Amino acid sequence: MERLFAKISINTLNLENRFVRSATWEGLATAEGAPTPRLVEMMGDLAAGGVGLIITSHSFVHPAGRATPRQLAVDRDECVPPLREMTQEVHRRGGKIACQLAHAGRFADTGTSGHPPWSVSDDGGGGRVMTHEDLDILCRSFAAAAARAKEARFDAVQIHSAHGYLLSQFLSPLFNRRKDEYGGGIENRARIHQEIIAAVRSAVGEDFPILVKINGGDHIEGGLTMEEAAAAARMMEEAGVDAVEVSGGLITGGRLSPSRTRIDSPEKEAYFRKEAKAIKEVLRIPVILVGGIRSPLVAADVLASGEADLISMSRPFIREPRLVERWRKGDATPARCVSDNLCFRPALEGKGVFCVTALREGSV
Ligand SMILES: Cc1cc2nc3c(=O)[nH]c(=O)nc-3n(C[C@H](O)[C@H](O)[C@H](O)COP(=O)(O)O)c2cc1C
Repeated sequence: MERLFAKISINTLNLENRFVRSATWEGLATAEGAPTPRLVEMMGDLAAGGVGLIITSHSFVHPAGRATPRQLAVDRDECVPPLREMTQEVHRRGGKIACQLAHAGRFADTGTSGHPPWSVSDDGGGGRVMTHEDLDILCRSFAAAAARAKEARFDAVQIHSAHGYLLSQFLSPLFNRRKDEYGGGIENRARIHQEIIAAVRSAVGEDFPILVKINGGDHIEGGLTMEEAAAAARMMEEAGVDAVEVSGGLITGGRLSPSRTRIDSPEKEAYFRKEAKAIKEVLRIPVILVGGIRSPLVAADVLASGEADLISMSRPFIREPRLVERWRKGDATPARCVSDNLCFRPALEGKGVFCVTALREGSV
């Protein structure tokens, strides 16, 4: 248990414990993509609840990469002042916060973005196949967004390359059938990541922490394998990333999606630990594991067995923003999250994410 509350550093970022709030789309941004007062309060509450590092919901770096309505934006300079209000609140309440930078690619919401979705290659799924000029725009968009995040006083950025969104599409043979130097073997499929990381690094400087969230595997036939994910992670480390969060699955993946349901026993917890271990074996930088972690004993075991250095959770913090504080004070009962995924509904309906089950049970 002590391991969970040991300090750790990611580049110059010093964290008080090993807990991370994994990026979670709350559906609580304005139409322009600014945080609403309720979102600012939610982030402040997480900080007060003792989570070492909060990662924001995926924030789009370019309008064509917008995934949903009520999504955070970091694609324009006007985004900086409202985002700074959110980082200020987190810092005031003793927390640290990273901005997740994202482009949804084929899964962009054209209705909201007003742009045709960008596609890595012509895989039959529609969308505009990205040209070399688009790749250039993408690198510049990530770099500019990272610079804005730094200006808004985020403590770090996280590049979203998981779950089937654009950068995950590049890594995945299912989506990436390009015939140029960005397609083919994993060295080519991860080339855009190296270029984006280099561009982000030169925008934010050597000391600013850059994280990446990747799939340890797509968990679908013909998708990215664990071995390829490890090779890609190694390339990202070489390009200058400071920590890797390991997730898996595609948002269209049903039972094997990133947010699996019915995690009701220790054996079902930490469902990407095998992938984290394979990735950690080839890296020197910290590895963060996400996916179905619900009890402090399993979390401590993941750290003790050297499979990861930090523990990341999403759904448990929707129900219990003060979960880390509860565990720290000695109540080691697992998270009350029952992993039914009902929390997505209110976010999709425009009401903002909350735990529907807790409300039904009358426990909020
Ligand atoms: C409502 C909701 C929104 C999510 N939004 C994001 C997101 O914006 N970016 C991201 O990388 N993952 C997102 N995820 C996935 C989580 O970060 C996490 O990888 C997944 O839920 C597994 O962790 P858990 O079992 O602790 O919930 C979301 C999950 C949920 C439930």
